[in-house]
Amino acid sequence: MRIAGTLLVVALLWPWLAWAGLDPDAKGVGENADLWRPDPMHEYWDPGNLHRPETERVKGLFQGEACLECHRVVTPGIVKEWRTSRHALTKEPVLCPACHGEDHQKLSFPGPQTCGNCHPKRLAQMEEEKHYGFPSHALAMERAVDSKHFADKPKAEVAACLQCHSVASKCDSCHTRHRFDAAEARRPEACITCHSGPPHPDDEAFFASAHGQLYRQEGKRWDWSKPLAKGNYPAPTCAYCHMKDGNHQVADKAVWKFGIREINPQSAENLIKRKRWQVTCADCHPPEVGMEFFKKLDAERTQSWRQLYAVERLLKNLRSDGLLSPSAKERPPYPIDWLAKLFPKERIGFYEGQASAFYNVSAIERDYFELWYFFNLGAYKGMAHGAKELSEQFHERMGVQVEAIRNEAERLRGQTGAKKDLKPLWMEGDYTKFNLDYN
Ligand code: HEC
Ligand code: HEC
Ligand code: HEC
Ligand code: HEC
Ligand code: HEC
Ligand code: HEC
Ligand code: HEC
Ligand code: HEC
Repeated sequence: MRIAGTLLVVALLWPWLAWAGLDPDAKGVGENADLWRPDPMHEYWDPGNLHRPETERVKGLFQGEACLECHRVVTPGIVKEWRTSRHALTKEPVLCPACHGEDHQKLSFPGPQTCGNCHPKRLAQMEEEKHYGFPSHALAMERAVDSKHFADKPKAEVAACLQCHSVASKCDSCHTRHRFDAAEARRPEACITCHSGPPHPDDEAFFASAHGQLYRQEGKRWDWSKPLAKGNYPAPTCAYCHMKDGNHQVADKAVWKFGIREINPQSAENLIKRKRWQVTCADCHPPEVGMEFFKKLDAERTQSWRQLYAVERLLKNLRSDGLLSPSAKERPPYPIDWLAKLFPKERIGFYEGQASAFYNVSAIERDYFELWYFFNLGAYKGMAHGAKELSEQFHERMGVQVEAIRNEAERLRGQTGAKKDLKPLWMEGDYTKFNLDYN
């Protein structure tokens, strides 16, 4: 039994080993495709571009029944899950080859296009997101792989990016394989695998809200087989609000979007989006609740941006006075960023390029980054989801951070060159060398 298990593990790992060892020309995808090599896991996250079918172990063409017969033994879990899915229980079952093909040496992993052959409406809705620009599920993959820091860093270090950003290239992000269950996708747990963490604490915000509390208390007893439509659920979950009536499109209502730059909530387009939100809330609340809610959200955002701009000005003044240390000239730029090599500049705030803020910067720039990217976004997401106390907690943290930045600015203005002696961590050492030489 144990030997059989080991053999199976080796068999499953073989294509990875073969790929990692025997194919030095493997290319990445996106704008910087020539500059990075995919890790074996990337095969699963961007199957349309990166899946390499295994060609050695099993040869031949098979029909559905033959696939099931052998895979009942090889991958029993997959067959069991498939058997309980709508795909197996429907009148004309959707067998393995419908998604993977029949030739075992040319198997493919299905992406949205394959699913869309039979679910064209859902695919079209997701594609429609592209009209609304970033962020969106449909554009998530290119957004990640085109980032400079994604191309520059060792792939093991940015591996997790695609675990979330693959939402663009796989329909099995929300209804996981091989159950492909609509009920699973209706629950907040389907979303928070990705919608969590400091720049997008949607999970924290939702569970701290009245809606999330109600889901926690009663969710177990709700009938999840029902579609997300008026009257079917006592309180909304992520998908109820963001994918109303099962619309596979999460961008058509987004006004403040990610929250990392100021926008005008009163623009003609945003007023249309707001109406869509108010219709959503009106499934359960009188119209005034929605109206009041969004007025308060906009006020909270406007006030946050006033505070952020003041800090941004303070940093830009330090920059013009040459007081940021180490300065951009004193630290290595991203290897692929030729413009930054020629014209090194501390890039402050959204419009100058957020990439520089992730690492490789002076302490005060990093403090500003955390203020803007973590605490500010927490305050926004709390407010947007009706978690007022959480939003207030993040505002308190913003206040403390602004104070610390002001103090540090004072100190930098008062100091006399002594700090230059400090050799920044990232200028030398094995990690830095590796980072610069490889990715
Ligand atoms: C005679 C047994 C057998 C039959 C028949 C068979 N498979 Fe497989 N299949 C395997 C084994 C063993 C593996 C794992 C081998 C490997 O990845 O090295 C595998 C792997 C796979 C994989 C994963 C490939 C990857 O790149 O990771 C898919 C998908 C798959 N089979 C689908 C099918 C489909 C669809 C059919 C019918 C058209 C089918 N199989 C028929 C034995 C079989
Ligand atoms: C409705 C489409 C669909 C059907 C039908 C389907 N699969 Fe899959 N299968 C997928 C998707 C999606 C993936 C994940 C691809 C990825 O990771 O990018 C997958 C992955 C796999 C894998 C890779 C191993 C893994 O980690 O899951 C195997 C093996 C596999 N399928 C076997 C089968 C077998 C055997 C059948 C028939 C019982 C089957 N599939 C039916 C969609 C399907
Ligand atoms: C060959 C056609 C075909 C392909 C390819 C296909 N499906 Fe389906 N799918 C169906 C059919 C048929 C049903 C059952 C419809 C029904 O019973 O009303 C279904 C049902 C579903 C459901 C509803 C499950 C539920 O709980 O009600 C989901 C979700 C789903 N498919 C997702 C996918 C995804 C994701 C893919 C690609 C990985 C995919 N399908 C590929 C034909 C297909
Ligand atoms: C596999 C990871 C993953 C899952 C699961 C996921 N998302 Fe996303 N979502 C993302 C990523 C990544 C982005 C940002 C894409 C980009 O960079 O443009 C995003 C963006 C969004 C946006 C922002 C759109 C905008 O215009 O600002 C909304 C809303 C959203 N998702 C809602 C949901 C909901 C609701 C669910 C669950 C039903 C869900 N997501 C499940 C990864 C995921
Ligand atoms: C835990 C899941 C997760 C991981 C890991 C992740 N992201 Fe994201 N990312 C998201 C979500 C969710 C959003 C959208 C949040 C929103 O709209 O509120 C997003 C937004 C973005 C955006 C902004 C899109 C825009 O247009 O404003 C970029 C760029 C991005 N991610 C790149 C990356 C890179 C590069 C990595 C790896 C270093 C990464 N992400 C890791 C989930 C993730
Ligand atoms: C962000 C999460 C998410 C992603 C990604 C996603 N779905 Fe869904 N899907 C859902 C939710 C939520 C439902 C339940 C909708 C409802 O209750 O009305 C659902 C339901 C479905 C159904 C059930 C029947 C129906 O039409 O309502 C099908 C089919 C389906 N999805 C296909 C797809 C396909 C094809 C893709 C890829 C193009 C995809 N899904 C990607 C969340 C997602
Ligand atoms: C009661 C409805 C509701 C629920 C439930 C809900 N959201 Fe939101 N969400 C909103 C509103 C309203 C905004 C702010 C929209 C704006 O500025 O236009 C928002 C903003 C967002 C954004 C930023 C992009 C955008 O559309 O503006 C993301 C991402 C997001 N929510 C994800 C989630 C996730 C994940 C969950 C579940 C854990 C969730 N939401 C639950 C209503 C909801
Ligand atoms: C599916 C029904 C449903 C939808 C849709 C819905 N809510 Fe609610 N909402 C509820 C329920 C139930 C409560 C809890 C009422 C209570 O505590 O007595 C609630 C509570 C609230 C509260 C009060 C929170 C508190 O602390 O007292 C606010 C504010 C709120 N919702 C705003 C919204 C907004 C804004 C939207 C749209 C973006 C929305 N809701 C969408 C059902 C819904």
